[in-house]
Amino acid sequence: MLLPPTPHRQHAVDAVLSFLEDNNQATAAAARNFVARVLELAIHDISLDSNAELSQEQIDKLLPLLQRLQTGEPLAYVEGSVGFYKHDFVIDPRALIPRADSEVVVELCLENLNSNSHLRLLDVGAGSGCLIISLLSELPHAEGVAIDIEGEALELAALNAKTIGVDQRLQLLNSDCLVELDPSDMFDLIVSNPPYITHGEELGPSVAEYEPHSALFVTDGDAMQFYRRIMIEAKAHLLPKAVLVFEIGANRQDDLALAAGECGYQVLEQREDMCSVVRAISLQLIA
Ligand SMILES: C[S@@+](CC[C@H](N)C(=O)[O-])C[C@H]1O[C@@H](n2cnc3c(N)ncnc32)[C@H](O)[C@@H]1O
Repeated sequence: MLLPPTPHRQHAVDAVLSFLEDNNQATAAAARNFVARVLELAIHDISLDSNAELSQEQIDKLLPLLQRLQTGEPLAYVEGSVGFYKHDFVIDPRALIPRADSEVVVELCLENLNSNSHLRLLDVGAGSGCLIISLLSELPHAEGVAIDIEGEALELAALNAKTIGVDQRLQLLNSDCLVELDPSDMFDLIVSNPPYITHGEELGPSVAEYEPHSALFVTDGDAMQFYRRIMIEAKAHLLPKAVLVFEIGANRQDDLALAAGECGYQVLEQREDMCSVVRAISLQLIA
């Protein structure tokens, strides 16, 4: 039974929490936020009045969502949105769920850009659009192109761009890496969080089961497959002094530095995420 016969608000939070993978503070907060959103309550209403009984209408709203969580479906897909950087992004299985780890990628990009300039930005493998849309919302004079090989992911990016108010400055392009890009299109910054998981690498069960495999896995067994392709294809599209910023998997910084050198780039900076894992790397073409 997902809820006791006369459930109250804390029972709902406990039920959500029991389906999240690790019961630490962050997931307790996530469970409370989720229940508050579903029941259309303020978060403090959950904490302060946790013994208030749920109405039948509230139970009817919650039960199908609890059933989805019970199967292991990620909270963000069940909720239909996720907070990333400064905005809520609509999310569903058409795209990878934006990760808090990726926020350092946005920060590293912003530190390499002058917010007053007219800038052109490119995101390769944009998925939900969380990276390029966060950048455009911080840089009012910038325009961007979001590339993805999955048309469905671009539909989600279009929805997020419109909701967050940057759709007039974002072009969506269905392309295999940079192949379909206009040869004359040049950029001040190219960002990418490409697929980097090799088959056989450990992934959480809900990741492997629910998130799109084309967003996660390389296709040739080489974790650097997409980084190399993007570095090579980007060369024709980088303005002088342009920067390339990549998200990388844990402990991949040496592999990327090696691949970058082979492709004619130098590492400018590495940035750690909140778990002290090097997560973002900026590169520039060697002159
Ligand atoms: C790791 S996800 C990143 C999504 C989003 N940028 C983020 O950080 O949450 C990688 C994305 O690359 C896209 N992708 C995979 N292969 C691609 C290719 N050959 N060309 C363009 N995009 C590709 C996937 O569809 C997916 O949206």
